Amino acid sequence: MAAAAMLFGACCTKQCDTPSTSGVVMENILARKSVRSYNGDTIPAEVMEDLLRAAMAAPSGRDLRPWQIVVMTDKSQYETVFEGNFNMQKFMESGAVIILCADTTFTAPTREDPDGPAVTQVNHLWRDDMGAVTENLLLAVEAYGLGACWTACYPYPDRMDPIKKALQLPATVVPYAVVPIGYHDGTTQPKDKWDPARVHYNKW
Ligand SMILES: Cc1cc2nc3c(=O)[nH]c(=O)nc-3n(C[C@H](O)[C@H](O)[C@H](O)COP(=O)(O)O)c2cc1C
Repeated sequence: MAAAAMLFGACCTKQCDTPSTSGVVMENILARKSVRSYNGDTIPAEVMEDLLRAAMAAPSGRDLRPWQIVVMTDKSQYETVFEGNFNMQKFMESGAVIILCADTTFTAPTREDPDGPAVTQVNHLWRDDMGAVTENLLLAVEAYGLGACWTACYPYPDRMDPIKKALQLPATVVPYAVVPIGYHDGTTQPKDKWDPARVHYNKW
């Protein structure tokens, strides 16, 4: 709370109650936390679209945007799609489960022959891109007062395979992360992870 007050108070050049953009954004980032229990209420469609819009605003290598996003709300499918996943209770309690998938290939002319024919190639940066899209989603969830938890999927076959099979994902598409989202009781607090010892100025 003190940190939030400091951010809000200190960022305006004039004395005013209007929080600065930097203050609001910093508060959002520092407030994000993994929330693992939800009340089951559904997420309004317009809110969901905003969350996904924020997710897709993520940076990506060569701007290839490898993401494909599956929004799950039909709980009758969860036992099959998430078979054996120890995060199942979170999924069942959530208002929606987002499966962030990546197409690991892209189709474009090669760098060697930029005017040549389109060729399907491996996107070596898809994992990096997917981390960015997942974090963007989590920050948007926080901004809406919702809760979410990044749950691992890639690279674990036991978590990926049921999803690939149940949803019949194309062979080049990998389910990267599974994010349950829902309304929560507000008791989970963010961790303070600031550690100046992890910062190295101009030398190790
Ligand atoms: C790649 C990745 C995989 C994760 N997998 C799980 C998971 O399967 N289940 C879970 O409850 N939390 C999972 N988490 C959440 C972490 O446990 C959590 O981010 C960490 O404890 C820090 O807490 P915070 O998110 O509240 O800051 C995962 C986080 C990341 C980044």
